[in-house]
Amino acid sequence: MNSDVGETLLKCVSCGREYKPSPRLFRCPRCGGLLEVVLGNPTWRPKGRGVWRYRDLLPQTKISPVTMGEGSTPLIASRLHKGLYYKFEGSNPTGSFKDRGMTVATTIALENGASSVIAASTGNTASSMAAYASRAGLRPVIFLPRNKVAKGKILQSIAYGAAIVWVEGGFDDAISLAMKLSEEKQKYYPMNSFNPWRLEGQKTLYYEVFEDLGKPPDAMVYPVGNAGNISAGWKAAQELLMLGVADTVPRFLGVQARGASPIADAVSKGLEKPVFVDSPETIASAIRIGKPVNWPKALKAIRESKGTAVVVGDDEILQAQMTLARHEGIIVEPASAASYAGYLKMLEEGLVDRGDTVVLVLTGHGLKDPASLESMVSNEVSVKPSIDTNELDRVLSEIWQHSAAVEVQKGNDARKPYPLYQNIP
Ligand code: F0G
Repeated sequence: MNSDVGETLLKCVSCGREYKPSPRLFRCPRCGGLLEVVLGNPTWRPKGRGVWRYRDLLPQTKISPVTMGEGSTPLIASRLHKGLYYKFEGSNPTGSFKDRGMTVATTIALENGASSVIAASTGNTASSMAAYASRAGLRPVIFLPRNKVAKGKILQSIAYGAAIVWVEGGFDDAISLAMKLSEEKQKYYPMNSFNPWRLEGQKTLYYEVFEDLGKPPDAMVYPVGNAGNISAGWKAAQELLMLGVADTVPRFLGVQARGASPIADAVSKGLEKPVFVDSPETIASAIRIGKPVNWPKALKAIRESKGTAVVVGDDEILQAQMTLARHEGIIVEPASAASYAGYLKMLEEGLVDRGDTVVLVLTGHGLKDPASLESMVSNEVSVKPSIDTNELDRVLSEIWQHSAAVEVQKGNDARKPYPLYQNIP
């Protein structure tokens, strides 16, 4: 134990003990709790672009970062709701927020002489880790639940050259196997989000929101799976408060999918500990997780920030995905659309106020999961090139009428319950 000023430490989130950092220490040796990084000399001195703009709030490494310019993603003002913003993480190099963590964790793995990095994944961690490993010259090994990963993510991982281990079971089985391998064979360095160095990179999302708004929002909304991202955001918000850069913190609001909602259920029932879900099911495959590794950190984030968590169904998720695409111009994968579905639910239940400054974290690009887009009604027609333009004009009008009717019939929220908020001059 060492608490010299200026020295970075690892602190157990359960018992509070502190340890000298070691890249292989992931659990408190005393109580088995999760660890978090306590920076030795944190300084708010943003400079440059992307994740490394905040290098004075990140682990200090001797080698140059393995980076692809991740971060600096757009914060997009909503046209549908006053005060609402979308943090579009789909614009990261591999199409999800995971790149923020991977640039940091890969740099640490490389600096510490790892030869192979491993992770279990519902798809995005895998493709992100594989991309950064290929840049770093490390061997990526990914553990994927058989038949449960969206096609785009598999193809990315194949393209980056990862060794793919298909696990007969769900994500929770895949992560158990990956953890066992990394514990028993030290050459495999684990990159899942129980690795606290990775979460250091992920916290930069919040710094960007803070800088873009010029203040903390009233609330941050995260889709929650393994619960690393919401935990990282809360850490960042507390750091800015501690440093005197911000004078408030937002509420941290979690959204989970029905069928995979251990954390949201623990929040609504006031449980100390979630009841894990044995066979999680939801269309939002990225967050189809029954035993979230970071649950203690996530419950702290939600409770200490006076936040809450809600559950949304697959139908609400798909509807939200379509609304974002057709009325905001943003295509996201189902797990990310869960943020918006959750926001609508929280508005309805009075858990957030209309007009509050709320940021929805849109975690991953929609093109990663093409199958989820196939249920959308398409507006298309085949014509002969010789078609008369009057006829073409008539056909197009019909298409728009039909499309509007379908949306109303589906109860599209963007058309019915709330008026379109126009903040564009
Ligand atoms: N959204 C997307 C698109 C994700 O891929 C994930 C997690 C989450 C939300 C939830 O984030 O786990 O930090 O609570 N995907 C992991 C993976 C589990 O393997 O790609 P979390």
